[in-house]
Amino acid sequence: MTSNPETSTRDVDAVILVGGRGTRLRPLTVNTPKPMLPTANYPFLQHLLARIKAAGITHVVLGTSYKAEVFEEYFGDGSQMGLEIEYVVETEALGTGGGIRNVYDRLRSETVMVFNGDVLASTDLNAVLDTHYSKQADLTMHLVRVSDPRAYGCVPTDSNGNVTAFLEKTEDPPTDQINAGCYVFRRELIAEIPENRVVSVERETFPSILQSGRKVVGHVDTAYWRDMGRPDDFVHGSADIVRGIADSPLVEGRTGESIVDETAGVAGGVLLLGGTSVGRGVEIGAGSRIDGSVIFDGATIEPGAQIRDSIVAAGARIGANAHISDCVIGEGASVGARCELQGGMRVWPGVSIPDCGVRFSTDA
Ligand code: GTP
Repeated sequence: MTSNPETSTRDVDAVILVGGRGTRLRPLTVNTPKPMLPTANYPFLQHLLARIKAAGITHVVLGTSYKAEVFEEYFGDGSQMGLEIEYVVETEALGTGGGIRNVYDRLRSETVMVFNGDVLASTDLNAVLDTHYSKQADLTMHLVRVSDPRAYGCVPTDSNGNVTAFLEKTEDPPTDQINAGCYVFRRELIAEIPENRVVSVERETFPSILQSGRKVVGHVDTAYWRDMGRPDDFVHGSADIVRGIADSPLVEGRTGESIVDETAGVAGGVLLLGGTSVGRGVEIGAGSRIDGSVIFDGATIEPGAQIRDSIVAAGARIGANAHISDCVIGEGASVGARCELQGGMRVWPGVSIPDCGVRFSTDA
């Protein structure tokens, strides 16, 4: 099949894997699945869906498992976004490969674009598809070049762009190209993934496709890319959307130092900087300074508080003159006046730290 640039919709199915438990983002993911956490005031997944729609793909299948019902409650049939969204639930999580196999019956097109539901990227999706069609590939992988590839599995390619291996993490990687979590499959390959058991697409499916002699191609670029799986990446990714460093059609034309929901109450003399987002019904007291942070719906920030590179979950309260840096404050938690929290501390939902002048830190 070839692409037709004259048509605005593409004959491609999108599959998004959203079934993971998001353990690295706990406690934010105790009640909310990772792809539904607010970033720049939208559930993260909504930014990805908007990019998929902008690329002309309209049929989307979500492979869900953990907190599966939350997705359908929010997005419904997708018509409000101009999409047709279907949901396939894994009662026992089947892993990334098993999750792709599990949606096979819902696929309609010969070409299937699969996304990890926790990757923030600005790559041109149509350019990835064009690589797939022009190279007549069986599988095309988006590969991104990163400055420090040691934390990731690497995917080398030859001079024709064909993938030659899938390498585990190593201290001395032979290439700076890493798997960016977006793949284009020829549909028949998905039928070959074993059914009804846990399969890792990275460790099992890709190596076996390569070994079977199929044409596996890399679409390599240096576009914005971030795995949102850890709290520091989550806050920086959200800030990058707010500031327009990472593309999202949802905030186009509204980017800047902060995004504030119109129902939030922001007192005088408050500084909102560094890509901060402020959700629905948040109250921020006079003289507070919030920098590079994500404030979920219904949180209260009392006067004079200072918050930097942190996440304050729904309904949490930060007391007057508290200082919070690089922390996660769970849903409904309360941090007392004048407390100092820093160094990656995570306050569990509902926990209450009394007013104090004490400094809490995970730093040695
Ligand atoms: P951590 O527990 O913090 O590692 O997060 P995670 O569970 O989301 O795992 P990971 O970041 O490796 O997952 C990458 C993407 O695949 C995410 O969008 C997950 O939602 C998704 N995913 C992971 N495991 C499964 C699964 O068993 N089934 C489905 N449908 N999706 C999965």
